[in-house]
Amino acid sequence: MGIETNRIWMDGELVDYADATIHVLSHTLHYGLGAFEGIRCYKQADGGAAVFRLDEHLKRLLETCHIATLDCPYDQDELKRACLETIKDNGFADCYIRPVVFLGHGEMGLSALSNDVRVAIISWPWGAYLGDEGLTHGIRAKVSSFNRHHVNAAMVKGKINGQYVNSILAKREVMKSGYQEAIMLDTEGYISEASGENIFLVRNGTIYTTPLGSSILGGITRNTLLALAREQGYELQESRFTRDFLYVADEIFMTGTAAEVTPVREVDDRAIGSGEPGPVTKELQALYFDTVKGKSKSHPEWLTIVE
Ligand SMILES: Cc1ncc(COP(=O)(O)O)c(C=O)c1O
Repeated sequence: MGIETNRIWMDGELVDYADATIHVLSHTLHYGLGAFEGIRCYKQADGGAAVFRLDEHLKRLLETCHIATLDCPYDQDELKRACLETIKDNGFADCYIRPVVFLGHGEMGLSALSNDVRVAIISWPWGAYLGDEGLTHGIRAKVSSFNRHHVNAAMVKGKINGQYVNSILAKREVMKSGYQEAIMLDTEGYISEASGENIFLVRNGTIYTTPLGSSILGGITRNTLLALAREQGYELQESRFTRDFLYVADEIFMTGTAAEVTPVREVDDRAIGSGEPGPVTKELQALYFDTVKGKSKSHPEWLTIVE
């Protein structure tokens, strides 16, 4: 699947697609120290376009840089202007935005303290990450043989490029076996999250999700869903749970900027609930899409209009 975009923001200016290249000696290519984000912009009900929770994503990008000891040359306001400029220049409404902060070439030793810290922002139209069919009817997930990082071996609150090898191995493993997504256990055997999504389950009317203190990324969609569910009056529980608790859930769904709110209809070949997306999942999924598309006016502070 190709990436369709015309111009890419690189180190302070928009350049043509063909010119957005980097040297093969770029440090991040070799060792993975970098920071990135995944953000979505949606066509709004009134015809315009708005980026969902842009400030929160850029704050997390700079926090990842801080965790990774990368001195990003742009502040949050500059990055915000750059994201909006990139979307506007390409004429996109519905699109995905990928800022990446990486180390350029220079030293090849591991510390590379003198290498330039560079920034690129790419935007392109990207449909449902786990497929339209998955969004409507739910996906089949499998618990991976790969554990999510131990909290003392990786910086689990950061979106650090190289750390994603763990998620990629988990995802490739289950996809080769015919599943759509990998669920990862932490190193103590409790449910952590999926390869690129946080995980929620519903049982007897209560909504459960893994706590922030576990080995999970603090998902912005997770935070959004918790806020929306709370506003709908659901009882929420952020607590660790075991793999078999998933099997006996009434409903399961995954959240992420790319995957949005995707129902899970099967885990490890066991049907979840009725084997179809359940009522709570469907209600919160609809509310999520209404919110990101500006149909629900309840959280205007989450939308940055592209103008
Ligand atoms: C490992 C992992 N967990 C969870 C998420 C969901 O985070 P968000 O909702 O902020 O996109 C992502 C995606 O960024 C991810 O890569």
